[in-house]
Amino acid sequence: MHVPSLIEKKRDGGTLTNEEIRGLVDAFTSGGMPDYQMSALAMAVYFQGLDGDETAELTAAMLGSGKSLEHPAGCSPSVDKHSTGGIGDKVSLVLAPLLACDNLRIPMIAGHGLGITGGTLDKLESIPGYRCDLKIDEMHEVLGKVGCMITGQTAEICPADRKLYALRDVTGTVPSPALIVASIMSKKLAESLDRLVLDVKFGSGAFMKTRKEAQSLADAMVLIGKNLTLDVTAVLTPMDEPLGRAVGNALEVHEAIETLHGKGPDDLVRIVLDLATHLSTAPRTRLAGWLTDGSALEKFRAMVTAQGGDTASLETLTELHRAPYCAEVKAERSGTLTQIDAGTLGRALLKIGAGRQVSSDAINFSVGADEIRKCGIQVTAGDSLMRVHAPTTDALSQAITEIAAGISIA
Ligand code: URA
Repeated sequence: MHVPSLIEKKRDGGTLTNEEIRGLVDAFTSGGMPDYQMSALAMAVYFQGLDGDETAELTAAMLGSGKSLEHPAGCSPSVDKHSTGGIGDKVSLVLAPLLACDNLRIPMIAGHGLGITGGTLDKLESIPGYRCDLKIDEMHEVLGKVGCMITGQTAEICPADRKLYALRDVTGTVPSPALIVASIMSKKLAESLDRLVLDVKFGSGAFMKTRKEAQSLADAMVLIGKNLTLDVTAVLTPMDEPLGRAVGNALEVHEAIETLHGKGPDDLVRIVLDLATHLSTAPRTRLAGWLTDGSALEKFRAMVTAQGGDTASLETLTELHRAPYCAEVKAERSGTLTQIDAGTLGRALLKIGAGRQVSSDAINFSVGADEIRKCGIQVTAGDSLMRVHAPTTDALSQAITEIAAGISIA
């Protein structure tokens, strides 16, 4: 296999054969194909796309780069959801323990932040001790004990996606429908699920900017799932303003815990319950009850403990990760708040440490925004629209200027 010729073939709009795709994934996973060649190939795929067969083969090759979970005979149905990524999207942290209350098994393999979107694993890693690198036997142990786990890809599960995900994050190649489909579906197939719901986001804070693009991504994922005998449904949700009232790793875990205390923001609670009803047969009122009576919180705490995390730190996480500088973004005029642009907010916070600009960057868990107001409300000039938490005064004023450019009041 001559890798440069295959990159050129895709660059020029050719179709890769199954053998070529397998060969490329194998070479990349084993270290035989350097990152710069895979980055070039990812960019060629970004521009030229992959057809249905190529996407299916890439998904299968990424799945085959590692092992799959084998659930014990007779155990509860295994279910999961996956989001294509957004700003302030902490749904998994609430949904996984909620579903575990219904005696379901949730073997959630999640990702780190990608592009401007936050990652479930980064959020969880703000909890001291929490391990996102469980080995397969440890995953089964946590699932057996708690019912849910949230961990990352390892050398055992979809290692090809793990490597490619990190490269895409920093090479401008995230919003490729084919790469998103293969990335998500390979991980979900490795979980050996009975049911999967996909939360496909569209809008300024998502990879798919329009509903139409999101629909075609959803269709592609549902088709791959069906072909590989997985029961998949997709829900399309807007991502023009951030989800909930907080963005940033520790701030989002704090908001997820508030939600598990029954005090979550309406938009977050609504989407959690909407997605839960696709996976659980429990009535919505019952599911909502587990969010308010402490049952889901108990599951979350049990999962954190089982994955090595310090539950004592959960209620004080924002003190543990407190940014030295914090200031409000204020309304410049009175009127109806019509826009807090999720993409602008995500980019501004990423630049000051909430996400990564190169794959080796460390995340600053304390950076973010909270007390974010929701679009549609009436505001008076000078009202606070959110608080920004930053590591330096320069970072704070830079972020506030950038975020303000994405705010509209009519
Ligand atoms: N989530 C993933 O796991 N992969 C993507 O490519 C996008 C979102």
